[in-house]
Amino acid sequence: MSLTEPRSTEAAAHSSTFLKITLPTLQEKKRNRVPISALTAYDYAMARLVDEASVDLVLVGDSLGMVMLGYESTLPVTMEEMLLCTRAVRRGVRRALLAADMPYASYHEDVQQGVRNALRFVKEAGTEAVKVEGGRNRVELVARLTDAEISVIGHLGLTPQSLHRMGGYRVQGKTLPAAEQLVEDALALETAGAALLVLEGVPREVAARITAELTIPTIGIGAGPECDGQILVLHDLLNLSFAPAAKFVRRYADVASQIRNAVEAYRKDVETRSFPNDAESYHLSAETRGSFARAGATRAAVAPAAIRQPRKA
Ligand code: KIV
Repeated sequence: MSLTEPRSTEAAAHSSTFLKITLPTLQEKKRNRVPISALTAYDYAMARLVDEASVDLVLVGDSLGMVMLGYESTLPVTMEEMLLCTRAVRRGVRRALLAADMPYASYHEDVQQGVRNALRFVKEAGTEAVKVEGGRNRVELVARLTDAEISVIGHLGLTPQSLHRMGGYRVQGKTLPAAEQLVEDALALETAGAALLVLEGVPREVAARITAELTIPTIGIGAGPECDGQILVLHDLLNLSFAPAAKFVRRYADVASQIRNAVEAYRKDVETRSFPNDAESYHLSAETRGSFARAGATRAAVAPAAIRQPRKA
């Protein structure tokens, strides 16, 4: 017998009525100027909720290192950590396109290493695309991955894996040469075969021009409203990331406060013995209860608890 409630019929209905989102679906959205919604997820439960809310693209971002694992940056995240989380997310996502970040040092040695690790995401975790950070320096890798039937999402602008080179998490492309460079990088990634492009922390005007020049969809984060789609880190949107919100983050819920309040209420209920109550307890049948109580009374009469000897080991 199961001790839990059956799964919601709402979720069951969701999985039987959706139209699966694919890369061509996202291309079509760009052509028809229909905005693309994207969010990160790192575990099964959140992935299910995000998918059931009909978000188009779920990304297992290497931001998981910061929001789930408590690292200071994304740099320490390993392939094994990414794969573990991506497999969990895969089990929760049915409708959305599922992509995962290639973590730092999983493609930085050479193209062969990048292809080998990207194949692991597809074969071991069931992703439909992988994301790599960088511009012209990733063109060869993007072309090789595309050749190997691995769809690639590029990532330009504020690329967190370049934290030390950038000297912090700073908006990129603010000068004319830097802005032109971003446009060139974007075009080079598209020509190499990238299927989508994330633009993070770049001026709105630059993201708007890149979006207009590319045929592939752009997904912005801190890149203004003209991008073909938007992505946020789920934990930022929910206020679960323990960090002050960046300018581009809109908080849609304060889940941290809700969890804190719920856990505090639980602790108080335990301490005052108001949890669990009778309705939250299992019971013997009336018949067994009577016999059990009589047996207990007999034992207590023969050897009261206070004088019973502890058992020998
Ligand atoms: O790691 C991540 O979550 C990302 C998104 C913010 C685009 O790269």
